[in-house]
Amino acid sequence: MERIAIYPGSFDPVTNGHLDIVERGCTLFDKVIVAILHNPAKHSCFTVDERKEFLEISLKDIGNIEIDSFGGLLVDYAERRKATAILRGMRAVSDFEYEFQLALMNRRLKRNIQTVFLMTGLRWIFTSSSIIKEAASFGGDVADMVPPIVNQRLKERFGTGGKSS
Ligand code: PNS
Repeated sequence: MERIAIYPGSFDPVTNGHLDIVERGCTLFDKVIVAILHNPAKHSCFTVDERKEFLEISLKDIGNIEIDSFGGLLVDYAERRKATAILRGMRAVSDFEYEFQLALMNRRLKRNIQTVFLMTGLRWIFTSSSIIKEAASFGGDVADMVPPIVNQRLKERFGTGGKSS
C-alpha cells in the first residue's frame, strides 16, 4: 500500500523552513500532498492560486509531491486522499502547545491518522510566514528565508521593487 502523508498549512507564503520539512518528509513517505488551507474567513496576503503557484515552482524537482488545496476538516480531507499521516514541522518550544492541541484533536477525530513531526532545521527555527511578511512590508531583505519566486512577489506586493500586483 502506498504511504501517503498530507503536509497541511496556510503557506501564506511558503518559506524555506516549509521547503526543508517537505523535502525531508518526502524521504519518509511514498507521496506527500502539500495541502493549502482554503479559509475564506481569514485574510491572506496571497490567494490560494498564488500560494499554489509558489509551491509548484519551488518544489518542481521533487517527484513524489502533489500540491492541492482543501477546506473543512483536515482529517476528512486526509481520509478522502487515502493518507495515513499528517506531516508537521516543529520549530521552537512556542509551537509545541498549538501543535499538541492540533495533533490530539485530529487523533480524537480520526484515530487511524497519525501526526508525524519533524524538527525544523536549525537555520529556520525563527522563520515564519508572518514575520517574513512583516519584515518584507517594511522593505526588509528576506531573500535568504524564502524561495526566489516568493521574494520577488513580496517585493512586488509591498512596492519595494518591481511592478505592483
Ligand atoms: O500553517 P498553519 O496555519 O499553522 O496550518 C494550520 C492548519 C491548516 C494545519 C490547521 O489550521 C487546519 O488543519 N485547519 C483545517 C481545520 C481543521 O481540521 N482543524 C483542526 C481540527 S479542529
